[in-house]
Amino acid sequence: MTQFIYKANAPGSLMLTGEHAVLKGYPALVCAINKRIYVTLKPRKDTQFTIRSNQLGYFESSIQNLEPISQCKLIFALLAHYQAYLTNGFDLEISSDFPSIGLGSSGALVISLLSVFQHWLSGQLLPNIKLLSLAIHIIQQAQGTGSGADAAASLLGGIVYYNAQPLEFKNLNMTLPLSVIYSGIKKSTKEVVQYLKDRETHHSSLFELLYQSIGECTHLAYSALQSKDYKILGEIFNFQQSLMDALGVNTLHLQSLINILREDPGILGAKISGAGMGDCVIGLGHFEKEKYSKANHEWLDLEITQQGIFYE
Ligand code: MEV
Repeated sequence: MTQFIYKANAPGSLMLTGEHAVLKGYPALVCAINKRIYVTLKPRKDTQFTIRSNQLGYFESSIQNLEPISQCKLIFALLAHYQAYLTNGFDLEISSDFPSIGLGSSGALVISLLSVFQHWLSGQLLPNIKLLSLAIHIIQQAQGTGSGADAAASLLGGIVYYNAQPLEFKNLNMTLPLSVIYSGIKKSTKEVVQYLKDRETHHSSLFELLYQSIGECTHLAYSALQSKDYKILGEIFNFQQSLMDALGVNTLHLQSLINILREDPGILGAKISGAGMGDCVIGLGHFEKEKYSKANHEWLDLEITQQGIFYE
């Protein structure tokens, strides 16, 4: 008898505009990148399950005991969702070609996992809107926060216009040249979001104006993309960066990396990508001063990919 194996892979992502404001009901632009997470699920005859991953390590238990472990919170939140349908165990393998940093890995992981579990347990894939709603629910259960913008990019691929409340997402079928530097500092999104919540309590009206302005950056970036006006888009990257600075998620180190990008003639604008206080900075365009600082910083060789979830 053939043993079914379920396989899926999904791309990571980078935020272009809309960070933090997307958690307050404003839109964001997010793009899928050419670094992917690969998931393989083999059903077992008994009730044991194993998780093997190059980044999370090895874990084994039984489906009657779904006590979460901290490094696999996302997987356990997903298992909790499917618990009533699980009659057999499974062997799950997760690998990725990500460097060991953010880049929307949670979104990519949850979208690939949902695809294989859904296919195994119900025999069919869910429509995009249901899959994404479920992904958002699982991310929020596991991490306590999450707009789902990264999951939308992992699902659809390309540059995605995204709104969480009410849920709206579309692939704009466009691409952009990006130059990306990793800051060397990983700060969890949850921590940064909590930091902003604390700051907001003292300056709520100012924060509301900042979120509104970040939302406006997305609207204007969307129009600039539609009219292919990359000069304006670069300026919007810079505006959004000033707003991130005002929120309090910029650092001297991130700013120095942004300055390196901005001083290059090939770059039209530069900003933090993601929650801030660490992770990556992105520039719009191709960095030209190859020799100058390519050796001194951790450049990430990233491109936008149009391939969203791929189910084998
Ligand atoms: C993090 O990559 C982007 C944030 O807007 C959080 C989120 O969208 O879930 C800060």
